Amino acid sequence: MSDADFPTKVAVLGSTGSVGRQTLGVVRSLSGQFEIYALAANQNVDLLNQQIEIFKPQLVVIGKQQLKGKITKGRFKLLTGAGGLEEIAGDDKVDLVVFATTGMVALPALLAAIKAKKKIAIANKEVLVIAGGLVTKLSRENKVDLRPVDSEHCAIWQCLAGEKLNQVNKLILTASGGPFRGWDLKRIKNVTPAQALKHPTWSMGAKITIDSATLLNKGLEVIEAHWLFNQPYEKIAAIIHPQSLIHSLVEFVDGSLKAQLAAPDMRLAIQYALTYPQRQKTVFNFLDLVKSNHLDFYLPDIKKFPCLHLAVEAGKKGGTYPVVLVTADEILVEQFLKGKISFWQIPVFLEKTLAKHQSAPLSLENISAVQAWTKETLENLINRR
Ligand SMILES: NC(=O)c1ccc[n+]([C@@H]2O[C@H](COP(=O)([O-])OP(=O)(O)OC[C@H]3O[C@@H](n4cnc5c(N)ncnc54)[C@H](OP(=O)(O)O)[C@@H]3O)[C@@H](O)[C@H]2O)c1
Repeated sequence: MSDADFPTKVAVLGSTGSVGRQTLGVVRSLSGQFEIYALAANQNVDLLNQQIEIFKPQLVVIGKQQLKGKITKGRFKLLTGAGGLEEIAGDDKVDLVVFATTGMVALPALLAAIKAKKKIAIANKEVLVIAGGLVTKLSRENKVDLRPVDSEHCAIWQCLAGEKLNQVNKLILTASGGPFRGWDLKRIKNVTPAQALKHPTWSMGAKITIDSATLLNKGLEVIEAHWLFNQPYEKIAAIIHPQSLIHSLVEFVDGSLKAQLAAPDMRLAIQYALTYPQRQKTVFNFLDLVKSNHLDFYLPDIKKFPCLHLAVEAGKKGGTYPVVLVTADEILVEQFLKGKISFWQIPVFLEKTLAKHQSAPLSLENISAVQAWTKETLENLINRR
C-alpha cells in the first residue's frame, strides 16, 4: 500500500443499521487506519446527522429524497436514492465499500463497485441470495474478491485461506438452532413475536432474528455460500451447533476439517473484512475454551423448521425463485411481527407462494416484476385464508 492509499477511504452503505453502526465502531477502534469517506442511510436522519458530525464524510446519501432538507448542512456532497449509492460506490476516491444495506436497493451500487475494482465487504444478504450469479460472475471477470461479513461466510473464507477450492469436500455452516431448538411442533406453531425475538446467542436486528428462529436464515446462507465459494449445493451442509462458537467449517477431500472459532461478535467478521489480509489486535471478548468446554452438534429438524428446506430448494431451482423466497419472507416476517399471521404460517405461506411461481432466468430487468408478483400473490393468499 502506498502512502496515497493511507488511510483507507471507506464508504459505508447502511451506516445507521446494525452492521453499519458496528462497522463505524470498528473503524473508530482501529484509529487512523480508515477514514469514513462516505455514509449512506435511508431515513434515520437523526443518527445519520450524528454520524456526519463524528466522522465528517465527504459524501452522504439519504435514501428518501424527501428527507434531504433534514440533513445537517456541512462540507460534504449530499446525494439521494439508489443513484446516490451507486455514485459513492464507484467514486474514484473510495478504496473500500461496506455493503450493510438490507434488500435489493444496493445491487446497482455493488455492480458499480465491482466494475471500479473496489475492495468490497459485503453483509447485504438479499443481494447475494437473489443476484449472486450476476454479482459473482462480474466479480470474477473483474478479479475483485468479495469479502464476506456474515459470520458463517467469514469463517469459511478464513478456513479456505491458502487452500484450493477443488479440494473442498464440504462447506459446513453452523446454526444456533434459534430459541425453539428442542421444542415440540405444537409449541413451535404457537410462538409469539416476543419469544421469537429472543435469540439465544447473537444480538441482531428483528428481521434476521426471526429468520434465525425459523431457520430460513440458514437457508439463505446456504445460497450465499453457493455463490461466494462457487460450490454446488450438494457440497454445502447446515448443522445445529447451539453454542455458536464454531462459526463454520470446511471439510477437505482428505477428511481434514478446518473450523473457525471465536466469541459470537459480528465486529470480528467486520474487522477481518476491513483489515484483510492483516489481522489486528481487538478489544472484543476472546473465547475461553476451558470455560466453554462443551461443543454440541445436531442435524436440523426439517419437519419443525421447514423454511430451511424451502430456501435451499429455491436456491437449487435458481432463476427467479430466490426473488420470491426473499420477498415473501420479508412480507411474512413483517406480518408475523405485527401479529397478523402465526409463526407457523410463515413456512405455510412461503411454500404456497413458491409453488405458484413460474420461474424465468434472472435478469436485472425482471427482479422488480417478480417482487410485485410475490407481493400480490401473498396478499391474496393471506386475505383468502
Ligand atoms: N445484523 C446482523 O448481525 C447481520 C449479520 C449477518 C448479515 N446481516 C445482513 O446484513 C444486512 C444489513 O443487516 P442489518 O441487521 O444491519 O440491517 P438494518 O439494521 O435493518 O440496517 C439496514 C441499513 O440499510 C439502510 N437502508 C435501507 N434501505 C436503504 C435505502 N433505500 N437507501 C440507503 N440505505 C438504506 C438503513 O437505513 P435507515 O436506518 O435509515 O433505515 C440501515 O442503515 C442484511 O442483508 C442482513 O441480512 C446482518
